[in-house]
Amino acid sequence: MIQAKNIHKFYDNLEVLKGVDIHVKKSEVISIVGASGAGKTTLLQILGTLDRASTKTPYELVINGIDISSLNDKELAKFRNEHIGFIFQFHQLLPEFTALENVCIPAFIKGTKKDAAEKRAKELLDFLGLSQRYNHKPSELSGGEQQRVSVARALINNPDLIFADEPSGNLDSESAENLHNLFFKLRDEFGQTFVIVTHNEELADLADRKLTMVDGNIMV
Ligand SMILES: Nc1ncnc2c1ncn2[C@@H]1O[C@H](COP(=O)(O)OP(=O)(O)OP(=O)(O)O)[C@@H](O)[C@H]1O
Ligand SMILES: [Mg+2]
Repeated sequence: MIQAKNIHKFYDNLEVLKGVDIHVKKSEVISIVGASGAGKTTLLQILGTLDRASTKTPYELVINGIDISSLNDKELAKFRNEHIGFIFQFHQLLPEFTALENVCIPAFIKGTKKDAAEKRAKELLDFLGLSQRYNHKPSELSGGEQQRVSVARALINNPDLIFADEPSGNLDSESAENLHNLFFKLRDEFGQTFVIVTHNEELADLADRKLTMVDGNIMV
């Protein structure tokens, strides 16, 4: 599913990723742990095609058999919209839109018709226990509810691959556990692949493989 080799990232002269190699198989759940500043978010953004690796040294990034480094920005945006879902710690919902609208936006970008998008969005919101919250704006939802809306948004285009950065960082322990169970349920039911950065030891240990980042590299 993901094949990455020799991923470097520099901010000016600061080398934040130092030649990371990572391979993820389809339907694997991978957790990435490590100290603050180790480079976890930076790596996730590059694997998720939101950011590009440094080209100072040759690297490889192949996702779903597609050579990501060869895509231009427009092709990359289309690829991301169709194949990748993101769940962030600070859910980044659009404040002026309702829960239902926020969930539908990636589907509209993909070109899905309004009726079909809303039907799927409602299914996901129902599944996540939010059937009474379709028309609430983010400011009218609790933190855990906002987080679940962002999960529905990540899933609406049925992505092959889901990246999550501290997905349960803002949740109480019960909501966190529900969210973690959901990840594994989705993997079991739909074969989705997850790469999850987390400080939550329980979640990290539940993963098929737990990788530890230290100072810009994955420990082997
Ligand atoms: N845009 C940027 N410009 C300069 N330095 C940056 C930038 N983004 C991140 N860094 C630096 O890169 C390093 C890695 O950051 P990153 O966000 O990947 O860490 P992290 O492992 O996700 O940490 P945390 O657990 O605190 O989220 C940090 O030292 C950070 O200061
Ligand atoms: Mg981070």
